[in-house]
Amino acid sequence: MTTWDLQGMQRHLLICNGSTCMEAGAEEVTLAVRDEIAKQQLDAKIHTSRTRCNGRCKDKCVVISYPDATWYNVPDTTIARKIVTEDVPPENVLFTLSPSGLSRNTDSKAIKGISKEKVAKRQRALGENGVKKAVLFVGHGSRLEQGNEEVREFVERSKHLIDPAILVETCFLEFASPNIEDGIELCVEKGAEEIHVIPIILLHAGHSKLHIPAEIEHASEHFPHVTFTYGQTIGIHDEIFEILKARLQEAGLDPAQKHEDTAVLLIARGGSDPAANGDFYKISRLLWEQLDVKWVESAFMGVTTPSVEEGIERCMKLGAKRIVMLPYFLFTGILMERMKKMCVEYQQLNTDVSIELADYFGYHPRLQNVLIERAKQAMSGTSTGMQDLENYRAYAKEHGPAHHHHHH
Ligand code: FES
Repeated sequence: MTTWDLQGMQRHLLICNGSTCMEAGAEEVTLAVRDEIAKQQLDAKIHTSRTRCNGRCKDKCVVISYPDATWYNVPDTTIARKIVTEDVPPENVLFTLSPSGLSRNTDSKAIKGISKEKVAKRQRALGENGVKKAVLFVGHGSRLEQGNEEVREFVERSKHLIDPAILVETCFLEFASPNIEDGIELCVEKGAEEIHVIPIILLHAGHSKLHIPAEIEHASEHFPHVTFTYGQTIGIHDEIFEILKARLQEAGLDPAQKHEDTAVLLIARGGSDPAANGDFYKISRLLWEQLDVKWVESAFMGVTTPSVEEGIERCMKLGAKRIVMLPYFLFTGILMERMKKMCVEYQQLNTDVSIELADYFGYHPRLQNVLIERAKQAMSGTSTGMQDLENYRAYAKEHGPAHHHHHH
């Protein structure tokens, strides 16, 4: 390793290379800063270091200059070069040092952030009887606000099953706020030192294998004093079959009775993870084992096949006189709305069969049981989610951090 002689250096630039800044172009920023230093022949005067997260991710990319202790927001390589030549526009200056300490530049868009003092005070107040714990539920999030409301309400109604000393919050992967990052921040702000992140996700695929772990990894870089655990997805769980049977019963199909000419068409979101799609087929089969219908068929709303249309056709070809479309969906959303329309359309097109649509999971006490169980596993250290975090770390080492493209 090189050991530089630092004698005579006049400035030291700390260039954030934490994962959020890297996603926002910190590599290009680093190279531009170094290139400009070379161009200006300042190599003997300005030293640069790449750093991990500096805890101001929202101001990405972050560069800190010493000895003046100025914090910069560097959105592009032009501003990066201006740091070297010291003519950064005022709106890109985040903090400057004054006799009273660092002060936020009012010309910049720098957000306020969490007060360390307040967090410490809250922790002291709460921490008397041990560490302050939080359970952070992560819903998928929907473009249909009603779906997000259902998630929030679900958590609200489940709260009483969790120790009242534990903080319970809800956040979303996409389409709704707060997102995971803000959800974690909220818990920290409220004094949490131990955050148990519990996904409200049916099948174990990209979101639960990569995206949530990526957020947890980054948050632990950001809040080194906080311990994180990760819960496992709902997966193939006995309680799920009880919910499915309850929804069939409501749709007029008694799960205890024999149904000769009836097909249940179980419909999932569909994704690109072969194991998750395979799990779904296993669930279909296990459901068939618990019913006395002739067929349980599987279909997907998108990404992969068979499509719902193909599923309906298949049921008819097999000889079904009655088809019950059974959504494998937790809450309402655009896809549930679409499914309702599909059901009406298929019924109009095929008058010699009866086609009905059962309800999605929604608020069901059995779903509550699963999620509380997942939270307890995480808190007692028996969640397989911790293995997911391990797997993610190995993945990130090889491929770099997982980028989750938020849709807005
Ligand atoms: S990654 Fe740069 S401030 Fe967090």
